[in-house]
Amino acid sequence: MPPYVIAKDRSRALYTVMWLCILAAWCVSLSTATSDIFTCSVPEDPVSARFGHVATMPCWLTPSMNAEDLEVRWYRPKDFDNPVLLYRERKIHEASQQSQFEGRTSLGLREVTSEGLKGGDVTLKLVNVTLRDQGEYVCYVSSNQGYEIASVFLNITVMGSPPLLSAVRTDADSVNVSCVSHGWKPRPRLQWSDGRKTLKPEKLDYSSGANGLVSAHSWVLSSPSSAPWVSCSLVLSEGEELEGRVDLRNLAAVPETSSGLQTAVIILALLLLLSVVFIGVLYKKRGNKSTRVPEGGTVDIETMRQAEDLVDIETMRQAGVDVTLDLKTAHPYLTVVSTGKIVRDSEENVCPPGERAYILGTHGFTSGNSAYWEVRLDQDNVGIKESWWVGLASGSVKRQGDVPATPSNGFWFLSSDKEKGLRLNINPNIILPANPRPQTLGVYLDYDKGVLSFINVKDNKLIVTVRAMFIEEVFPLFNPGKGDKAPMTILDVSHYKTDTVKVSVSEGESNVPPPAEEAETDALLASNQSRNHQTSESKDC
Ligand SMILES: *[C@@H]1O[C@H](CO)[C@@H](O)[C@H](O)[C@H]1NC(C)=O
Ligand SMILES: *[C@@H]1O[C@H](CO)[C@@H](O)[C@H](O)[C@H]1NC(C)=O
Ligand SMILES: *[C@@H]1O[C@H](CO)[C@@H](O)[C@H](O)[C@H]1NC(C)=O
Repeated sequence: MPPYVIAKDRSRALYTVMWLCILAAWCVSLSTATSDIFTCSVPEDPVSARFGHVATMPCWLTPSMNAEDLEVRWYRPKDFDNPVLLYRERKIHEASQQSQFEGRTSLGLREVTSEGLKGGDVTLKLVNVTLRDQGEYVCYVSSNQGYEIASVFLNITVMGSPPLLSAVRTDADSVNVSCVSHGWKPRPRLQWSDGRKTLKPEKLDYSSGANGLVSAHSWVLSSPSSAPWVSCSLVLSEGEELEGRVDLRNLAAVPETSSGLQTAVIILALLLLLSVVFIGVLYKKRGNKSTRVPEGGTVDIETMRQAEDLVDIETMRQAGVDVTLDLKTAHPYLTVVSTGKIVRDSEENVCPPGERAYILGTHGFTSGNSAYWEVRLDQDNVGIKESWWVGLASGSVKRQGDVPATPSNGFWFLSSDKEKGLRLNINPNIILPANPRPQTLGVYLDYDKGVLSFINVKDNKLIVTVRAMFIEEVFPLFNPGKGDKAPMTILDVSHYKTDTVKVSVSEGESNVPPPAEEAETDALLASNQSRNHQTSESKDC
């Protein structure tokens, strides 16, 4: 064979090999190389989400293009095959999903104006986040020309318990106020204020529990003569903040009544939810502080909330009871619709300043009972009531004369007044800014646990929980205040019950009048002149 023929064959073989290589490289590039059509964009900073809330992990294609026909896979590093969410062939595939995320994920929108998949937005939405969800999430988008990935880090924050404040008199004009709060992540900022200035704490300690959640403890010295109250706030970020306040003026009166002791300890707490949404609350077993019963009767109030133990309002509604007003307990300064469901202040018989006019429910609660009822505090066109009391009174208040409406006299309630907002009837007074003022207030009682909770029904927010020890039978208490256009209306919550959770109530006097015509209600609500009503015979106010 002539040498040039061999050379020609060689060059042909080389040529073929070269082509095979190019083909192979192209094939490889198809399966592994990244796409040069788009890239995945994610935020630079970690995304943070509050425990129990929704996490939105943004990821979008740049340049923007339709992603409906692409594969979108969100996974935790090393868990490619068990993704958090898998979208392929125009649908979500759940078969291989990691069980931790079952039913909690979907494709979301990175901003309200986003067009979703159509606009290349492949954002991951994760609901009811828990501490385990913290960490890295990989956003993987694949087309037939390649894939792109990017990572988002999710940080979980936890709002702790509302600050528990205690005020101890140290001498004539000095009070040691301390503040404790548990269960935060990350570490909150703790700040003291007396309304005019920030107070510098004498001591501020943080400690971490086994679960990684942080507790804060701090105390300050303040003088009741220079500041009427002191507040302690724990702040994670703007809008994620809890504040507790203690009124020092009333505290000044305490030593006289506390059997000659120089110091009086009053433990209180409150929670103030500043634009924070809590889905609900569940009560932890009683705290270590055992419930004392002082001579006066049934006091010892603390309020608490545990971040880890959440329950929603639907659960409380399972204890729903049908509350009817007991006309025999009404004051002459009240006007009650004969259905026993609506009450307002009487306009003929105006309650003089300093007098209180309240009415109780027909049925009381004793050991073994839990109960839930709702009171509407607004009316269409006239707005939200600003002045009211809602809570509990023990049966003995019917026999008592005019005594202060305190827990030791058998009263536990949340009240609202026009200037100051919401407060509990405990001493010292605690003010909870009424922001927003409840339109419908839910009241939940667990008699044996000594739990009384007030809920803003509209947004499922717990307003406050009072811990008390009940000894006698207790009755729902209502005071419609003075001068509000809107009446107080007891709502029927019994239809919320999904099964036959029975709430046994003791037999009350059944002097409930037959249901009135609707017209009667309208007349009471609408007109000042010819209102069709009943008032009680009771003389004491
Ligand atoms: C998320 O939490 C809410 C309220 O607690 C609950 O009703 C809902 O079922 C939860 N969803 C999932 C998917 O767990
Ligand atoms: C997220 O968490 C990490 C580690 O837990 C922390 O170092 C970082 O500061 C957090 N970032 C934000 C924005 O909260
Ligand atoms: C104030 O109370 C704290 C307890 O919260 C205590 O540790 C501290 O010693 C008290 N300070 C004074 C001056 O009494």
